[in-house]
Amino acid sequence: MQPDSSGSGFVVVANRLPVDLERLPDGTTRWKRSPGGLVTALEPVLRNNKGAWVGWAGVPDVELDPIVEDGLELHPVPLSGDEVADYYEGFSNGTLWPLYHDVIVRPVYDRQWWQAYVQVNRRFAEYTAKVAAEGATVWVQDYQLQLVPKMLRMLRPDLTIGFFLHIPFPPVELFMQMPWRTEIVEGLLGADLIGFHLPGGAQNFLYLARRLAGQPTSRGNVGVRSKLGVVQVGFRTVRVGAFPISITSTELDEYSRRRSVRERAAKIRAELGNPKTILLGVDRLDYTKGIDIRLAALEELLHEGRVNPEDTVMVQLATPSRERVESYKQMRGDIERQVGRINGEFSRVGYPVVHYLHRPIPREELVAFFVAADVMVVTPLRDGMNLVAKEYVACQGGLSGALVLSEFTGAAAELRQAYLCNPHDLDSVKDALMGAIDDDRDTRRRRMRSLRRQVLTHDVDRWARAFLDALATDRVAGSALLTD
Ligand code: ADP
Ligand code: F6P
Repeated sequence: MQPDSSGSGFVVVANRLPVDLERLPDGTTRWKRSPGGLVTALEPVLRNNKGAWVGWAGVPDVELDPIVEDGLELHPVPLSGDEVADYYEGFSNGTLWPLYHDVIVRPVYDRQWWQAYVQVNRRFAEYTAKVAAEGATVWVQDYQLQLVPKMLRMLRPDLTIGFFLHIPFPPVELFMQMPWRTEIVEGLLGADLIGFHLPGGAQNFLYLARRLAGQPTSRGNVGVRSKLGVVQVGFRTVRVGAFPISITSTELDEYSRRRSVRERAAKIRAELGNPKTILLGVDRLDYTKGIDIRLAALEELLHEGRVNPEDTVMVQLATPSRERVESYKQMRGDIERQVGRINGEFSRVGYPVVHYLHRPIPREELVAFFVAADVMVVTPLRDGMNLVAKEYVACQGGLSGALVLSEFTGAAAELRQAYLCNPHDLDSVKDALMGAIDDDRDTRRRRMRSLRRQVLTHDVDRWARAFLDALATDRVAGSALLTD
């Protein structure tokens, strides 16, 4: 396949564009920021690298021409209503998402969903093949597009192809459930470099490349941003590594220090009734995030009298997500019942204990919440990284806040001075919350200072550079590395 003569030298391919098309009630449309951590992380990277972005516009059955927004070329890939149901809600979010998140919900293995996944992955590969210039670098993102690297390589062998997985890569025993496990491993092996957040994910993948694809691999441990693993696929060398993603830390730190943000944070505290402690949760409304767990911990602490409802407030900001998927509908009902029960039991008129907002919050307002919160509560049962934890730390220049963080997030590998907890053990979550609320000022400051050192020195630019530099490095003869 021939590229357009004026193609892009750097192309990001992701299920979603960084903006979603929104249809308004009066029939007009507008673009709004897409949900999720992938967009938060990649948008600034792409702006710095001046490239093109291939992705879906978030609504079914629309054919859109490419658009240029702030120097960023966006190439919308159309999906039909049936494809949204089978490829996106079905295989991506009813099969892969729960399988890769420790089967918190039982994955559904449906042949029709798989067919749609293959078909849509092929379309993404074909669009990308047209957009990429001769010899371009293409960076394919996340679990929705795991077949694209191989499909794209067959269409355009001249390209350098990277792949990054933004969610956990599961333990081998769980991955083996997947009926199309070999196809997925072979799809990924079309890339030159495959990135995971953690060495464990890279290690799991290397084992599967040997076992399912029958390819020789290196045996040594994979390091963080160093010591890559190797798979030898015929004459090609595929490298496999761990690259923990991050945020625009310095920018966020500076933004959070602005006077307007500080004033808004003070106003938020006043609007909440000037409580002694503000607890904050910020998530997509997803069953992996453990929103129910933090509410259950709070409810027990209130019952036990360890938390006083007269001086403690919890704010839960929850962006709607995947609302037509059954497990998400159920979880929303459960969480809203929990919020109602806690407020029914412990609130006073005009002073709810839990403030629950089911909508995306504008970025500036979100930063003011991060500044205002005394304790950030991040309790996923499993999360690839969790950027919210890092965003909170970046906004705590005053060192007064504390982070409660699940051990089952990728972020916990780096943020060791957080109040770590096991979300499967409610007592552990309760103890972490009490530590974060009650510890003395000096202890909290010391812990936050250490967290900030990590977050401010490991930003998203460093993540992107580490991955793209490794991708650009001349591929060393695989056989040499296989002796590791
Ligand atoms: P995921 O990618 O699974 O959604 P992350 O924590 O890695 O989880 O990233 C979520 C991103 O979405 C963060 O940048 C966070 O600030 C943003 N976000 C989450 N909840 C909200 C909300 N209620 N309003 C606005 N932004 C949100
Ligand atoms: O990284 C997690 C992720 O699933 C991204 O791939 C995705 O863009 C984001 O969260 C939001 O999910 P969705 O696109 O399904 O709304």
